[in-house]
Amino acid sequence: MKEITVKITEDKEYKVCIEKGILINLGEYLSKTIENKRIIIISNSLVNCLYGVKLLSSLKRGGFNLNLIDLIEIPDGEKYKSLSTAKYLYDELLKRKVDRTTTLIALGGGVIGDLTGFVAATYMRGLPLVYIPTTLLAQVDSSIGGKVAVDHPLAKNIIGSFYQPKAVYTDPEVLQTLSDKDIKNGIAEAIKIAVIKSPAFFKWLEKNINQLLKKHKDLLYELVKEAVSLKVDIVLQDPWESGLRKVLNFGHSIGHALEVRAEYQDLSHGEAVALGMLIETKIARNRGMCSEEFEGQIKRILSFLSSSLSFLPACAVHHADRRKQESINIDIRELDLNQLWETLTLDKKNYQGRITFILPEALGKVSPIDNINKEEVMKALEEFKKEWKLC
Ligand SMILES: NC(=O)c1ccc[n+]([C@@H]2O[C@H](COP(=O)([O-])OP(=O)(O)OC[C@H]3O[C@@H](n4cnc5c(N)ncnc54)[C@H](O)[C@@H]3O)[C@@H](O)[C@H]2O)c1
Ligand SMILES: [Zn+2]
Repeated sequence: MKEITVKITEDKEYKVCIEKGILINLGEYLSKTIENKRIIIISNSLVNCLYGVKLLSSLKRGGFNLNLIDLIEIPDGEKYKSLSTAKYLYDELLKRKVDRTTTLIALGGGVIGDLTGFVAATYMRGLPLVYIPTTLLAQVDSSIGGKVAVDHPLAKNIIGSFYQPKAVYTDPEVLQTLSDKDIKNGIAEAIKIAVIKSPAFFKWLEKNINQLLKKHKDLLYELVKEAVSLKVDIVLQDPWESGLRKVLNFGHSIGHALEVRAEYQDLSHGEAVALGMLIETKIARNRGMCSEEFEGQIKRILSFLSSSLSFLPACAVHHADRRKQESINIDIRELDLNQLWETLTLDKKNYQGRITFILPEALGKVSPIDNINKEEVMKALEEFKKEWKLC
């Protein structure tokens, strides 16, 4: 098992435990991690159907009394990462007389994780929290670092907090049931961390991307371990995102704005971030911050994801999936640039009215730039659309 310790402060640390098949032994691990045996599992119907019984059986084997364990399901989808779902969960916790010693377990992808984390942070000013991330994106990114949030219709992740879990248990085996699209969403965030911090990891991703897309078990395991280590390194240098950690937002200024404009439907977070990386790289290129060769590398690796990431036109890479891509392409084609700019002005990274993007300079080097202007965003977007034949 790979164990990575996240030591946030002298008296606050937790472990990310990564092991194939760990879900089966989770009851045993959890019995050592949490004090009270009362647990509420929060999941959605799909993940519950796939892994709910497995988790409950494992808890039983670990000595937990199943009468003290409840499972609450919420609907599947980013649009449920909202204050109204959080309210539904508060109601359910109150109905069950949940007190401060009850542990919340988030069993699911980034949506379940961020939402459960937000509820754990706020209900009675804090409940013990355990993550069992079940998507690649949640395993490599959202379960690490303690950011919890819900979305607002006008701005993504805008209502949130920092709240650390007691532990994260990551089982790469569960990735075998993920859709191709969600494998790609996770790879998009892994590419992001590679661009930010590790040219070697970027090269490894380039070399192995075809096998990763086919869900090669050992390679996915390697990917998760490396991406988590890289993210933990960054988080530990700046746990509360007062400076350095902002680099993790490469691709996310444009990405989040696109998600808001799509009303958190049709366009997934991973797709939005991949688009964001392409457009933000174009802005960096137009500013002369990065080379044409670097932009080519970013375009090449992201084009591997395009055939079912569904945001790029078929002609860019393959022809087969054209119809599936139509709805998202129309969103991008018809995007109102003024509205997009308005959304960008509400981004969390902005400071005293200055729009801040994280722009890349080279593999392993990105920087915050706080004088982004509307014209350059429009120009990059227009160029992007032409280049990918979206207009
Ligand atoms: N907190 C952070 O630091 C952070 C970082 C990155 C992303 N995020 C957030 O993460 C969210 C996106 O997460 P996501 O991509 O995991 O989306 P998601 O949680 O919606 O999961 C994607 C889909 O996969 C399904 N699924 C989950 N596990 C599965 C499995 N093992 N097998 C089959 N299907 C499975 C889900 O039901 C869902 O339909 C966004 O809201 C984003 O803002 C947060
Ligand atoms: Zn992200």
